Amino acid sequence: MSEKKVKFAVVGVRGLGNSHVLAIKKTPEAELVAICDNNEEIAKKRAGEYGLDKYYTDFYEMIKDGGFDCIILATPDQVHREHAVAGLEAGYHVLCEKPLALNMEDCEAIVRAEQKCGKKFMTGQVCRKAPGFIKAKELVDAGEIGEITFVESEYAHDYSFFKAAWRLDPVNLRHGVIGGGCHAIDLLRWIAGNPTRVMALANKKANPEWPVDENTIAVLQFPNGVIGKIFCGIAVKRNYTMRTCIYGTKGTIICDNTSPEITLFRHAVTDNGLHLYPDKKIPVDINNHNLAAEVADMCDAILNDKVVECNSIEGSNTVAVALAAVMSAAKGGDPVEPPYVKA
Ligand SMILES: NC(=O)c1ccc[n+]([C@@H]2O[C@H](COP(=O)([O-])OP(=O)(O)OC[C@H]3O[C@@H](n4cnc5c(N)ncnc54)[C@H](O)[C@@H]3O)[C@@H](O)[C@H]2O)c1
Repeated sequence: MSEKKVKFAVVGVRGLGNSHVLAIKKTPEAELVAICDNNEEIAKKRAGEYGLDKYYTDFYEMIKDGGFDCIILATPDQVHREHAVAGLEAGYHVLCEKPLALNMEDCEAIVRAEQKCGKKFMTGQVCRKAPGFIKAKELVDAGEIGEITFVESEYAHDYSFFKAAWRLDPVNLRHGVIGGGCHAIDLLRWIAGNPTRVMALANKKANPEWPVDENTIAVLQFPNGVIGKIFCGIAVKRNYTMRTCIYGTKGTIICDNTSPEITLFRHAVTDNGLHLYPDKKIPVDINNHNLAAEVADMCDAILNDKVVECNSIEGSNTVAVALAAVMSAAKGGDPVEPPYVKA
């Protein structure tokens, strides 16, 4: 690794953007040089906290002034496209929070800008950096559970406490399956590939006034005959987690991003005439928002000209599957093919 540091600008610093700032502070190859938030109170507060003598409330003024290499976008999903495309076209690398965007037109605009500008682009699908999921994928790739047969993941959260208006914007809808369920979808795509067909049902009960459904269950057809399921609940009365099961011809993995271990079942034993699968507990760190790993990967890609795995096409294809689930649920469960972007 070279001695050079990557200079970062972070846009949208109230919630997750502030966690990105903390991730930059933890990463030796990264340096925070600018912050921007169109809420001046927030921008000023963060500038004070991080010892920056200047802050921006206007994204375009910030990219005109420059002085950084990479922009992190932690703004509402509805503005990702505008800032991602403008940032790339102005010559910056971009790390954009998930979901990449809320519709395929916006996703495709970002993909074209990445391809045209030749800059590094990462979609922040952070579950790919959760230690439990990384370990599960390592076991799958090493053939520890044989061939995958069935995969399932759930995104369980309670958005009732999130007050930001953009989350429930009745015009530019942020469906829970796109905004949050994208984590479970991306995880299954990472492990089992791109689904060819999606069939979904959805409902809402706890917050009937919300403009989007609360619970969505989607059945997915993956390549190689693998089948799968995602559940996305955004008003569930329990603590956040992403319980995930990966079933294979020789074993099973049960994992999540909120426990200190994952479970591997293999090799049945016979005990008093019963066939049992002893569970092997594999310890893992808990780090369900491992933004420091994203920042470190982005630095490595920029400093050492490495390929970014979760680029804009990956982000787009996760949105495509989420949209297919929304469309299928709207049609009462009819099968829908995800509208993937052409590479
Ligand atoms: N990776 C994850 O697990 C995860 C978790 C939470 C949020 N997110 C994503 O991160 C993004 C931000 O979410 P959040 O919860 O931090 O939202 P938030 O509402 O807390 O913060 C968004 C910030 O962006 C600012 N902003 C809005 N429009 C702007 C503009 N045009 N220019 C500059 N600043 C602007 C707002 O003032 C606010 O401070 C969203 O895309 C969300 O989906 C990802």
